[in-house]
Amino acid sequence: MSADPLQLARADLRGFAGYRSARSETLRGEVWLNANEAAWANAADREDRARRYPEPQPRDLRVALADLYRVAPEQLLIGRGSDEGIDLLVRAFCVPVTDAVLVTPPVFGMYAVSARLQGARLIEVPLQDATDDFRVDLQAVAAHAEVGAKLVFLCSPGNPAGGVIPRDAVLNLARRLEGRALVVVDEAYIEFADAPSLATDVGVQRNLVVLRTLSKAHALAAARIGCVIADTDVIALLQRCQAPYPVPAPCAALALRALQPESLAQTRNHVETIRHERAKLSATLAALPSVQRVYPSQGNFLLARCADAEAAFRALLSAGVVVRDQRAAPQLGDALRISIGTPEQNDRVVAALRVVEAPLRRDSVSGEMMSHPSGTPAGEAA
Ligand SMILES: Cc1ncc(COP(=O)(O)O)c(C=O)c1O
Repeated sequence: MSADPLQLARADLRGFAGYRSARSETLRGEVWLNANEAAWANAADREDRARRYPEPQPRDLRVALADLYRVAPEQLLIGRGSDEGIDLLVRAFCVPVTDAVLVTPPVFGMYAVSARLQGARLIEVPLQDATDDFRVDLQAVAAHAEVGAKLVFLCSPGNPAGGVIPRDAVLNLARRLEGRALVVVDEAYIEFADAPSLATDVGVQRNLVVLRTLSKAHALAAARIGCVIADTDVIALLQRCQAPYPVPAPCAALALRALQPESLAQTRNHVETIRHERAKLSATLAALPSVQRVYPSQGNFLLARCADAEAAFRALLSAGVVVRDQRAAPQLGDALRISIGTPEQNDRVVAALRVVEAPLRRDSVSGEMMSHPSGTPAGEAA
């Protein structure tokens, strides 16, 4: 068993009790007059579902999520999306100014936002754009983390490129950083990947934290249900730092229905369709003259480098298709991220991009103007 991860938490919060809400009391009774709730339901709430404050961690949902992720309920904290998990981790573990959060750009932006809000330092270890994919430079991550990072955020599958970090590599990093930092693996898109989740490893490697969400594969982004999966002591600390009633009852009820066998079966079918569509769209895009490179993705999106990203973005918009413009992100000055939609929506993407012309370039031998051969990165020989 590895070192106690609670030693990494802010010293001033280790004994912090947090807010004790009326719902955290274990009293028994029939007439509940301890939380200043309304005596009658709202006229719009016909079934009287919203009058009382919800359970801080709805028991049934916690058990269902723990079953889904194959962990113990006490190893899991439900929050308002994984966004809240990120924020809680940064707040509970980083002393402003002194401690740092390590990120691997280009990557999901909320790690840096939460660090900024906490006044934590940000250490950036850029992804390496290898010939086949963007890669996390884990040696550099370990070396930089050793000088002051309390949290190392790894995104796997990575947003926006979609690559997966091998399980052994993550575990090696976590072992190396034991007693110094938590390694947080954001698995928002893991359901779409070939690789397994690291959720079941948290019981063994105590400085490992996994983030999961119902926003993507489970199609419940608006319900805002995400989970931190971690050592039980870390979970208890995060809960003490969390708002008193973080999970709205209607959202918990919807999430619970989404975890019933019938809904789960449909979710699995949709994931299979997305994986199939991802492969098809990736191959089709890569063959278009206006697209120079499509990264191999394990998520429900594709990152494409375009010969003229502005023209591609505009063409898509004119066809009514909105994709994520990545051009402001480091190393992605020519890239768009396209979520995988329904087969019809994906066809629309292809149709819009088919009419985008690749910019002309001058042939070095003949001096004639030629279009870019597809799949060839700008500046590289064909
Ligand atoms: C990598 C990654 N993590 C977390 C999130 C946020 O997920 P949630 O809706 O659970 O807050 C996103 C959203 O796009 C994401 O891309």
